[in-house]
Parts: sequence; C-alpha cells; structure tokens
Amino acid sequence: MQALEEEYIWIDNEIKRYSDYKVGLLNHSLQYGSGIFEGIRSYATEDGVAVFRLGEHIERLINSARIYHINISYTKEQIEAAVKDLIRLNKLNDSYIRPFIFYNSESIGLNPYGKKVSLAIVAIEMGSYFKNKDSGIRCIVSSWRRIDNSILPPMAKASGNYINSILASLEAHYRGADEAVMLNSRGYVSEGPGENIFLVKGDKLITPSLDSNILEGITRDTIIKIAKDLDIEVIERVVNREELYTADELFFCGTAAEITPIISVDDIEIKNKDMPITKKISKYYSDIVRGKVEKYKSMLTYVG
Ligand SMILES: Cc1ncc(COP(=O)(O)O)c(C=O)c1O
Repeated sequence: MQALEEEYIWIDNEIKRYSDYKVGLLNHSLQYGSGIFEGIRSYATEDGVAVFRLGEHIERLINSARIYHINISYTKEQIEAAVKDLIRLNKLNDSYIRPFIFYNSESIGLNPYGKKVSLAIVAIEMGSYFKNKDSGIRCIVSSWRRIDNSILPPMAKASGNYINSILASLEAHYRGADEAVMLNSRGYVSEGPGENIFLVKGDKLITPSLDSNILEGITRDTIIKIAKDLDIEVIERVVNREELYTADELFFCGTAAEITPIISVDDIEIKNKDMPITKKISKYYSDIVRGKVEKYKSMLTYVG
C-alpha cells in the first residue's frame, strides 16, 4: 500500500498526487462545512475489483448537491468513470472512495452563490471501520439529538451535518463506549453518527423509518432488499428508545461500518449474544459485496 501523499487523486478532471493538491485556509467549505460528500467501497472479488452500488452513491451525491443549490458540471457517468479510473490508477482492492464537492474559493462571506465549485475524489485502501467489528461494539444513547430536517437536512450528505455526529461520537468516547446511538428531536431512535441502525425482534428486523431524521442509507436499502431471501421480514417504523434495551439483537450498518453488531446500549447487554440473525445478514452481505451471489452481481460495478 502506498503512502497517502503518493496516492493519485481526481480533481476537476485532472489526476494529481494527493500531496500536490492544496486548498487555502479560508476555503469556504473548510471554514463553514459547506462540502457535499459520499463514502463508497470497492471490494476484491473473483472477477476483479468491483465498486458496490456505485450508481446509487453517485445519485445520492448529486441529490445532496441539489438540496444545497450546488450545480456540478459532471454527469453521473463521468463521475462513475472517474471513480473507476482512480481505483485502477492506485491499484486498490478493498478501498474506501471519497468524492467531495466543495466551494473552491476563499471568502469570509457566508453566501456561496456563484462561487467556483470543485469535485475531488480520493480513494484509499481500507479495512474495517470499527476495530472490534466482528465481536460487536458497545454503544450509549447520546445526549445530543440528531439534526432535525427543519434545521439541517439529514438526507443530504453534507459536511456540516457531521459536526452533530462528531459531538455524539466524542460523547461515546468520553463515556467509555465505542459509538453512539442518536435520538431525533422527538426522542425516537434515529441513527448512529455515521450508520443506520437495525433491531432484531424475534424473527423480524425493525429499522427507523425515513421520517426519523436519518440519512437514507444505501446499506440500509441493501438489507431491506436482501432480507426477503433469508425469510426475514423488515419493518420500517418509528422506534422508541426503550426498544433498544429490549431488542434480541442490534446492529449498525453503513458503507464504512458494513454490518457491525452492537452488544450493549447504555451498559444493557443485548438479549441474544449469539446474534444469529445479525450473523446471517452479515455473511450474506459480505458474499454479495464480494460478488458471490449471482442474483446481486448487478449491484457491482467492475473496475476492469
Ligand atoms: C449519518 C449516516 N447515516 C447512515 C449512513 C449509512 O449510509 P450508507 O449505507 O449509504 O453508507 C451513513 C454513512 O454514509 C451516515 O453518515
């Protein structure tokens, strides 16, 4: 694996070395969190490296930009091609890809209207997001509420949203846990700082519905699609906080987190420590992203 400084990046249709690209200290998106981004993974498969659900990620990137009135001058197809080129150039296998749309201008003024917009893509080799992903993580319910869509749209993957996530993650750290679960402003379960959440109750999966101030996760959507194959019903609804404490199993999901079991919330251990349903879904998900399930090969974009 080469050092980050040596990696190639894609920036406004040009390829540069990571260390050869700089933004100024007064960059609008650095100062005010006005960037838009995506988090995408590629996996090594028997037929070569493939990006998982690339089209959906780029669509969400473009939609996030739309919400913030940002016009980007690249088509979905051009961005997808750039992602594939970058993976090939950096000779990546299991990688994390970060497209980032930002105001490439330095100004104190808040209103970015008319400022230059750039798209940068960085891709690096990456393993598990959580160290103890397989054995499961300990969570707390954060005292910080998830942003409300009357204040900041959680469905846009905008940099500024993550200041809210960071408060919750830091709180988890200071309280000796691995991660936080966030409630929304109405006190119902929303999501993790960078993950959606699923509860297992009996033989059913429950996940907060889209009115819970969540990011509409692509992994969440994958799980909803594939659960039927395992004869597991998925219910999307409002979830009470106390249901976290009475669930049989719990897990986070996300592109970075993949499927990460949660073993306790606020020091209350989950009921079924064998986590049979979480393990079943996790195995199936990992087979799908590795191209081992014929039916879902269309979710993979081979880099070639
Ligand atoms: C706040 C938040 N929720 C949920 C997710 C999971 O989304 P996805 O599965 O599309 O990666 C992410 C990760 O992108 C996130 O940042």
